[in-house]
Amino acid sequence: MAGLVTGCLAAQLSLVSLLLYSLASTTAQHTLGAGSSLSVEDRPQPFLVSPDGTFSCGFLQVGDNAFSFSVWFTASQNSTAVWTANRDAPVNGRGSRVSFTRDGELALADANGTTVWTSRMAGISGGRRGLTISLNDTGNLVITDPSTGSTVWQSFDWPTDTLLPSQPFTKDTKLVAGYYSLNFDNDNVLRLLYYGPDVASLYWPLPDLNIYAAGRTNYNSSRIAFLNNTGVFLSSDQLQAQATDLGLGIKRRLTIEQDGNLRMYSLNTSGGWTQTWSALKQPCHAHGICGRNGICEYQPSLRCSCLPGHNMTDRGDWRKGCKPLFSIGNCSQGAAPPPPEQFMFVRVPQTDFYGFDIAYNKSVTFEQCRDLCLQMCQCSAFSYRLDGNGFCYSKGLLFNGYTSPNFPGSIYLKVPRDFNVSAPLVATASATGLTCSHNVTVKTVNPDVYGKAPRNSGKWAYLFAFTGVLGVLDLLFIATGWWFLSSKQSIPSALEAGYRKVMTSQFRRFTYRELKDATGNFKEELGRGGSGVVYRGVLEGGRVVAVKRLAVDVTVQGDEEFWAEMTLLNKTSTVVIGDAFN
Ligand SMILES: *[C@@H]1O[C@H](CO)[C@@H](O)[C@H](O)[C@H]1NC(C)=O
Ligand SMILES: *[C@@H]1O[C@H](CO)[C@@H](O)[C@H](O)[C@H]1NC(C)=O
Ligand SMILES: *[C@@H]1O[C@H](CO)[C@@H](O)[C@H](O)[C@H]1NC(C)=O
Ligand SMILES: *[C@@H]1O[C@H](CO)[C@@H](O)[C@H](O)[C@H]1NC(C)=O
Ligand SMILES: *[C@@H]1O[C@H](CO)[C@@H](O)[C@H](O)[C@H]1NC(C)=O
Ligand SMILES: *[C@@H]1O[C@H](CO)[C@@H](O)[C@H](O)[C@H]1NC(C)=O
Ligand SMILES: *[C@@H]1O[C@H](CO)[C@@H](O)[C@H](O)[C@H]1NC(C)=O
Ligand SMILES: *[C@@H]1O[C@H](CO)[C@@H](O)[C@H](O)[C@H]1NC(C)=O
Ligand SMILES: *[C@@H]1O[C@H](CO)[C@@H](O)[C@H](O)[C@H]1NC(C)=O
Ligand SMILES: *[C@@H]1O[C@H](CO)[C@@H](O)[C@H](O)[C@H]1NC(C)=O
Ligand SMILES: *[C@@H]1O[C@H](CO)[C@@H](O)[C@H](O)[C@H]1NC(C)=O
Repeated sequence: MAGLVTGCLAAQLSLVSLLLYSLASTTAQHTLGAGSSLSVEDRPQPFLVSPDGTFSCGFLQVGDNAFSFSVWFTASQNSTAVWTANRDAPVNGRGSRVSFTRDGELALADANGTTVWTSRMAGISGGRRGLTISLNDTGNLVITDPSTGSTVWQSFDWPTDTLLPSQPFTKDTKLVAGYYSLNFDNDNVLRLLYYGPDVASLYWPLPDLNIYAAGRTNYNSSRIAFLNNTGVFLSSDQLQAQATDLGLGIKRRLTIEQDGNLRMYSLNTSGGWTQTWSALKQPCHAHGICGRNGICEYQPSLRCSCLPGHNMTDRGDWRKGCKPLFSIGNCSQGAAPPPPEQFMFVRVPQTDFYGFDIAYNKSVTFEQCRDLCLQMCQCSAFSYRLDGNGFCYSKGLLFNGYTSPNFPGSIYLKVPRDFNVSAPLVATASATGLTCSHNVTVKTVNPDVYGKAPRNSGKWAYLFAFTGVLGVLDLLFIATGWWFLSSKQSIPSALEAGYRKVMTSQFRRFTYRELKDATGNFKEELGRGGSGVVYRGVLEGGRVVAVKRLAVDVTVQGDEEFWAEMTLLNKTSTVVIGDAFN
């Protein structure tokens, strides 16, 4: 009896120590099975790491107490995200959890239990058993069906703002940052688009050029682009953008950024990013940067300012532009237009506002152009360019403004005659907030909303629960053993009886060898879970049983899942717990 108990305790201890080992050793995994999860409190540990270590995925801080579930370059200094599940819905820094569910779905839950993102929302997945999730060396987060080898879902199909080498960019994908996006247009040309609350406009390839002059074609409708491993971004519209550091073995990314530019970067040895290509050579060519009535200037960094007589609408956000400190009257229909002599024009040199022309006239004098604007109530300014031929553009909305020393024209702004543009208050208003920092709103998640899961409870609670259940099992086993001993007096005969009673008694331990024989060397697989694989077995006497073979690397939630599976199996057949450590 003593031997039996000692053996039993030893088995339990070895199991517990193995479990402890698997919890303590946070060796990065690159494939996980159903039931795996990571809580935001355990974020120093990644959820997955790609086999060669290039990419990691897990929780990244994106604001005050705000976290996202992302994939990033392991070696990048500030963990630059290359893909994010919940970009617009950050989760709480306490109580949030990402799980790969038994239905083969990756799900991100906020502190209060709300699912903020699942792979099912993004693609067609779910409802399938035995799937695995892995992080590929290419940075692709993939849900696979191991039985067929097919990909059920992959992050490459749902890019956020970044394209990685070998990731296909198709007619169905787009890269987005704020109001800016990159996608294939209806005419098969890859373009950058500004899509703001009031207006939308295309700005790359430069709208002044026709697509052939820009080196593109609209005849190939395959609409596919990708960044290859040498550093060439190739598109079916004949775009061939080359990195300045062409070559293999460099870690690259192509990202659309908050300022509307599309840039290629290489990871350098110190974990920083070196820009190796950009779509816009002149950053002010991105539309909407300084908002309505704002002027963009590049010298040598991006700056925004307001037109004379205008004041910034929102000090924290240039995209909202500037509002006039004067009124040029009510231009809605029915109202009488104010008389022209009430206005004068203020010249803003070397400046243009792209688009929103309400009239265009060629071969006119400056005076004719000015009078045209005075006659139109909606005309807020005009642009006049002499270069040989007197070009006159009457402007309605003043959007996409930029100043450049090379620009040959000027803008003439219509203001009331009695308005003093150089008055100190007015002048300072126009000049304020010159640095055009892209003040991306800092995301904040209210720290008061904590979820059910208290800090760090996770794995230890599971461990204690598991050990507790093991203890109860042990007691039962010992009690049964004691009963045999006291009734039959002999250990071997008691065991022999136990053998015979397998079919009727509740618990019985088998040796590994016996289970191996019963299952025909673990041949017929019934199911698969985070903690192991279930096999069909036939015991001596013909009874059909399910045998669960515990995987050595019991994952954090494995035990919970294991017992859930036990309950399920118990309803249909006898359960035999196979223990791979024996
Ligand atoms: C959970 O929290 C989020 C963000 O704090 C909130 O939007 C959502 O309504 C909450 N859901 C529930 C069920 O309380
Ligand atoms: C994973 O990456 C390998 C190359 O590293 C590639 O051959 C394989 O197709 C990729 N799998 C998926 C699903 O992206
Ligand atoms: C990338 O594309 C360029 C241009 O087509 C080609 O010369 C180069 O061989 C390609 N690199 C790889 C790794 O395919
Ligand atoms: C269209 O583009 C694809 C991808 O770049 C290319 O494989 C194909 O040959 C092109 N088709 C034509 C007709 O040029
Ligand atoms: C790496 O890139 C960062 C940021 O661009 C730069 O500051 C740093 O000097 C670079 N380091 C090397 C070794 O090139
Ligand atoms: C990383 O973040 C720090 C602090 O925000 C910043 O000073 C540093 O420039 C960043 N490094 C890179 C490579 O972006
Ligand atoms: C960003 O905007 C907030 C308020 O809108 C302001 O407090 C903060 O100083 C701004 N940051 C920068 C870098 O301009
Ligand atoms: C402009 O005039 C129209 C019609 O007379 C009137 O309905 C509208 O309220 C006026 N708008 C302003 C800003 O005065
Ligand atoms: C200017 O162009 C508009 C149309 O854009 C036209 O209606 C108008 O007659 C032209 N005026 C002159 C003076 O050319
Ligand atoms: C406009 O304001 C400036 C500065 O106060 C002043 O010098 C100038 O005389 C004013 N002009 C008119 C027309 O009032
Ligand atoms: C410009 O706007 C700011 C607030 O955005 C305000 O404090 C300031 O007085 C305004 N200046 C003028 C001249 O109206």
